[in-house]
Parts: sequence; C-alpha cells; structure tokens
Amino acid sequence: MEERVLILDFGGQYDQLIARRVRECRVYCEVMPWQTSLSAIKSFRPDALIFTGGPHSVYAPGAPDADPGVFTLGVPILGICYGCQLLAARLGGEVIPARENTVREYGKTETAVFPDTPLFRGLPETSVTWMSHGDYISRLPAGFRVIARSEGCPAAAICDEERRFYGVQFHPEVRHTAYGTAILRNFLYEICGFHGTWTMGSYREQAVKQLRETIGSGRVLLALSGGVDSSVCAALLAEAVGKQLTCVFVDHGLLRLGEGDEVEAAFSGRGANFIRVNAGERFLKKLWRVQQPEIKRKRIGEEFIRVFEEESRKLGKVDYLAQGTIYPDVIESGLGSAAVIKSHHNVGGLPDTVDFREIVEPLRLLFKDEVRQLGRELGLPESLVSRQPFPGPGLAIRIIGQVTKAKLEILRAADAIFREELEKAGLGASVAQYFAVLTNLRSVGVMGDGRSYDHAVALRAVETEDFMTADWARLPYELLDRVSVRIVNEVPGVNRVLYDITSKPPATVEYE
Ligand code: XMP
Repeated sequence: MEERVLILDFGGQYDQLIARRVRECRVYCEVMPWQTSLSAIKSFRPDALIFTGGPHSVYAPGAPDADPGVFTLGVPILGICYGCQLLAARLGGEVIPARENTVREYGKTETAVFPDTPLFRGLPETSVTWMSHGDYISRLPAGFRVIARSEGCPAAAICDEERRFYGVQFHPEVRHTAYGTAILRNFLYEICGFHGTWTMGSYREQAVKQLRETIGSGRVLLALSGGVDSSVCAALLAEAVGKQLTCVFVDHGLLRLGEGDEVEAAFSGRGANFIRVNAGERFLKKLWRVQQPEIKRKRIGEEFIRVFEEESRKLGKVDYLAQGTIYPDVIESGLGSAAVIKSHHNVGGLPDTVDFREIVEPLRLLFKDEVRQLGRELGLPESLVSRQPFPGPGLAIRIIGQVTKAKLEILRAADAIFREELEKAGLGASVAQYFAVLTNLRSVGVMGDGRSYDHAVALRAVETEDFMTADWARLPYELLDRVSVRIVNEVPGVNRVLYDITSKPPATVEYE
C-alpha cells in the first residue's frame, strides 16, 4: 500500500528540506500551498499531513490558514513552527507574541522532551533543537498536552495523542536539530504506522505507466544536453515510449574530453531515436572575438535553440516537448503555478518555432539525489549519473577571453588529467566540483634548455552543499604535484599550473 504525506506549505524557508527528509525516510510526499482546497487535498489521498513553518503570526488578520476540514480527515498531523501554532490556535488554544516571561528564540536551543511520547521515542531527555519564532502558545486546546519545553518556550512541543495531532515549535528538518530526523521518522513510523515502502524502483514503474497513459501513441521530442536531468529524463521516456521519443543531442563542441561520445554511447541501444548534431564549428563562429562572459552565454544559448529548432523542424509536428524540470525548480518558482521551463543555458528559453501540443516533465516531483537514483535504476552509467555540475555554456566560460579551437584542446587535455588524478585519489565523491580553467595569462618558463612563453592553467576544486557558498578544497600537496607535473609534461602549450585558494564568496565557482 502506498503511504502518502501531504506537506502544506505556509511559506517557511525550510519547506523543501521537510519534503526531502520525509522522502529520505522512504515515504512519498508532495508539497502544496496552504490555499489548496479541501477537495484537492482529499483527492491527493494523504495518509498524513505536515504543516510547515512560515513567517507570519497566526493571529494576524489574513494570516495563512488551512481549510478547517483538514482536522476532520482522520489522518495524523505534524505541525512545525508556524504549523504548530496553527494547530493550537485553530483547535481552541491561544497564541500570543513573546513577552518578558518568554523570550523570542532564534537558533540552537536546549530542549527537554518527554520521551514517553511516540514522537520522541529513543531520544535523550534533553538535546539541541533549532528554534526560530517570536510567538508562543499560551493556552493549549482541549485534548492537548505539552511534551517538550525549553527555557523560553513553555510549549516547545504539544500533542493530542487520541487524534494523532502533534506540533513542534522547533524545526526537525534542519541539521542543527540534533535528533530532527529521528523525530520525523518517529512521526512517520511510530505515529502514522508507515513502513517506508517508497523506493525508486516503484517510482520508476509508476512513472513509466503514467507516461504511457499520458503520451498514448504521441511523439515526444527532448533536447538532450548530457547533464544528469536531461539524461535521466531521456532514459525514462525511452523506457516508456521507445521509438516515439526523439532525443536531439546538440554537441556544441564545448564539452569535456570524451563527453559527447559518452552521451551517445549511453543512449544508443535504448530504443529511442537519437540524433547527435556536431555543431562545434557553428558555435566557435558565434564565439569569434567574443570576450565578455555574458555575451558568450547569450550567444551559446541562442545558437543552441537555433540548432535544436532546425533539427526538430525536420521531424515535423510532435505532440510533446519533454523537459528535465526537477522538484526544487517547481517549488522555488511558486507552487501550483504553470509548468516551469528550465532553459539549458540560463538564457535562450524555449524554442518558439517547434510545433508541439504540450510539455511533459517526468522528473518534476523528484529531488536531485532522487533523479540520480532513478538514473541508476534505469541503468545509466555512473559517470553520467553522479556527474558533477557542468555549466550549459561549457568550456567557453572556462577559457577566459577569446575561445579558440586550440585553447579548447589545451583545456580539455589539462582538465581530463586533473579529473583523472583527483578521482584516482578517491576524492571524486567528496569534492563537489573540480575542473581546470585556461587563464588569459602567458608567462615565461624554462623547458629543457630553452625558454618557453606559454599558458597558465588554473585548477579549481570546491566543497559545497548548495553551490551558493563554497570552500576551496584542501587537496593533498602530493595530488596537486602529480597533476601539475603531468599537465606541464603532457599538454603542449602549458608551462604553469596554479591552484585556486579562494572561497565563494568573495569569488564565484566559475571564472566567468
Ligand atoms: P558560480 O560561478 O555562480 O557557480 O559560483 C555556481 C554553480 O553554477 C554553475 N554555473 C552555471 N551553470 N550555466 C549553468 O548551467 C551557467 O551559465 C553557469 N554558470 C555557473 C557552476 O558550474 C556552479 O556549479
């Protein structure tokens, strides 16, 4: 039996994290906005509800509210922060702003829990939780009791065991809450009685079935970039509709060493039509004498669309255009809104001359790590599935200034050596992104008995979770030494190797 959780979103900043944690517990969930109607909620058939946090006060006029019918669905509810206060306020309790005897809490807070409740089973009596609130519950609704306290918060968690309504003032979804995942797991397993049956294997089966129903005998077109999302999207669609799918892989000639062939190898033999367009020369012409990074991005994005349009025009009318949109894009762009269009190059957008009826987005409910997992399920090679992020404009923004064929060759060779050595040293999984950059610098060197005047290659390796901030990776000197010696010896035209020791901010990950 499928176990389904509906997360009602009240505008909190950690809502995506709640969904991720629930899915990490192998329970399927979706996020919907708080305005969702009762009938839409019912048609989702939730076995449990989670109310998220949010920036408002429940007593403020016009504060986000759930349809009161959610309290009579007979399913367990977990309210988090604002969601906890909403439970209290709407079921007959009282929520007021913090005054002298209570303090506003923000950050790590020592919290004492009553371990006799199933929500806190297995937890120590006190532990650190992450709080972020200015209101507190001053009176509990009938049937509720307090099950956790902190110094400033007399009702840090509350419950009505009979109705299986639980509320926590803190955020169990963030890592700063020491036992946060255990608490969510307790809610799902102990209180809702779930077993954690949701797996990528079952998702794959379901998705294939649904795609077959939606697409019928229609034709589907997909622009394949070779990135994780579009590759998994292609593999899933190929499994669902085989020959009805045409993948157009525009090789812009700005990919890393061997990458174009790898993509081609991964998709030949999957039953779909695969078209590779080797458009390297065209892109190089568009980049002739272009120095500015933003112009490079724009030209590449536009040219990509042109090539894709030309190819798809040859195919005539298609019924569906497939997009590799993933769940974070959907949540971030405002829930419930129209389909999000993900451009492959941050510019360019959708082809406007391709004739299609509808968009299909088979990954729109998956997080990135789930997309990778699905890719593995579908038998895509690990090199494709666990690929580090690679910018749409490719090596063009890793060659500072003018891009030429010769410079592309130098960079490709140097980058391949760096990646190979780093992976050989077993660091491929722990370093988030690592690559070589061809600087705009030439310098004097001595090679053999002669003088050289050649390029300087910079190496960049960063550790990060979200790419918004990043720290430069402390790579072992021996590794850096090996890479440097190999690049200078094996790549003609390079006589100097630099290692970038700047974090983001102030620097960015890419150089352009
Ligand atoms: P920055 O350089 O902004 O990079 O610190 C953050 C992350 O975004 C990637 N990036 C891009 N990805 N098109 C892309 O698809 C681009 O134009 C682009 N620029 C940067 C970068 O590789 C890193 O993962």
